[in-house]
Order: sequence, then C-alpha cells, then structure tokens
Amino acid sequence: MKILYFEELPSTNDYLKSVPFEPFLGVVALSQTAGRGRRGKSWLSERGKGLYFSLLFPPLKENLTLAGLAFGYATYLTLKELSPDFYLKWPNDVYINGKKVAGVLPEILKDRLIVGVGINLLYTEEELSSLSVPATSLKAQGIEFNYGLLVSNLYNQLVEHYHLLDRGSFKVDEFEKACPLVGSSVKVIEGEKVYNAFALGVDREGALIVETSEGIKRLFSAEVSVREVR
Ligand code: BTN
Repeated sequence: MKILYFEELPSTNDYLKSVPFEPFLGVVALSQTAGRGRRGKSWLSERGKGLYFSLLFPPLKENLTLAGLAFGYATYLTLKELSPDFYLKWPNDVYINGKKVAGVLPEILKDRLIVGVGINLLYTEEELSSLSVPATSLKAQGIEFNYGLLVSNLYNQLVEHYHLLDRGSFKVDEFEKACPLVGSSVKVIEGEKVYNAFALGVDREGALIVETSEGIKRLFSAEVSVREVR
C-alpha cells in the first residue's frame, strides 16, 4: 500500500493525472483548493474537515458507469463498518438519514483510471447547507472514526473492487440491495428535462432502468441526476 500525504493540493484527482503512471498509488490531501465533484460541480474541501482521497489504477475494460458503481459500493462498505445506517444512491453517492456523506469521482484517461473519493468528516450541517443536496458528516451523525484506519480500509476496498471489475465479477445485485432508490418513484433530471419515473433496477452495465410514461429507459450516470420522490 503506497499512499502519499499532502497538506494541500488543488485536487487529489488532478495530482494523479500529472504524475508518471504508478499502479495502486494513493494520495490524500488535508485540503483541496479546487476539489471537484461529478458533473462539473465543485467539492467542498476545507482543511481536515473531510477525507480527500484518490487512487490510481490501470485502465479497465468496463464502462465508467459500472466502475463508478463498484467504487461507490466499496466506499459504502468502508463506511458500513462504522454504522449500519449508510446506504447508496445510484450511481455512487453514500447517504445516511436522507443526507449525502460521501461521493465518488471516477475519471478515465488514455493510460490510467483515477478514482477520487470525498467523505465529509467534521463539517457541521450548517457548513454544508449551501450545497445542492442535503448533506451531513460523520461527526454531525455522531459517528466515531479513526482517520488513518478509514484511509487504509478505503484503500483496500477500492483495490478489491478494482480487481472484481477487472475479472468481470462485480455483482450489481449487491449494489441494488444497498440502494433503496431501486423499487421507488424517482424524479429524473436530464439537462433541462425533468420527469417522473419508477426505478426498476440496475443492469449489468450499471445503467439505472426506469419506467417512464414513454416506456422503459436506461440512464447512464454521466447524463442524469436522480432524486427520490416521497
Ligand atoms: C461527487 O460529486 O459526489 C464526487 C465527489 C468527489 C470528491 C473527491 S475529493 C478527492 C477527489 N479529488 C477531487 O477533486 N474530487 C474527488
């Protein structure tokens, strides 16, 4: 296990884009000045208040949606050791009590796959209140953790799930079981278009299968955002 630690970086994902390729190299920064989230959003990265972690892998044959699901599942398993209340929201966010606590940003380049994970650790919910989705942190949920252990457990889970993907043996039904969005009514946001649908399941490519008034559709993570309708 090789993990580099930095006081500050623009973004741990961007750092791994700039270094010579070294498989399974991990990097942690205490703060990021240009932390990025999915779909062009920024990621709040104040010093020590979150875990900002990225891991470098050889490229995979699998599509990015499926890889994102597997790495989201790996992050969920890591957090699940701290509390049984965590769950997943397709494609790869980890939630607890209706609020987002962690997110995954997988990025593919010609010679490498970069998996970035952000976990809110010490933020107050007030500090997270301006984000686009309700968010929380481990501390705000009263969940105790050990920073070093969290990093090494996350590293091991991500590497294990990389190998599962590589062998074609990551099971989407495991993901489905941890994702209560499946089997419920959802609101789909696709660019300017917003429509209601019912989430039927996740297919082998990691697409979310939804039933809409126009029939069955497959949603890919790069294009859409999905919210639960209560
Ligand atoms: C999301 O939008 O849910 C994904 C958030 C991913 C954030 C992490 S923090 C470490 C790594 N570096 C980045 O710039 N982003 C990811």
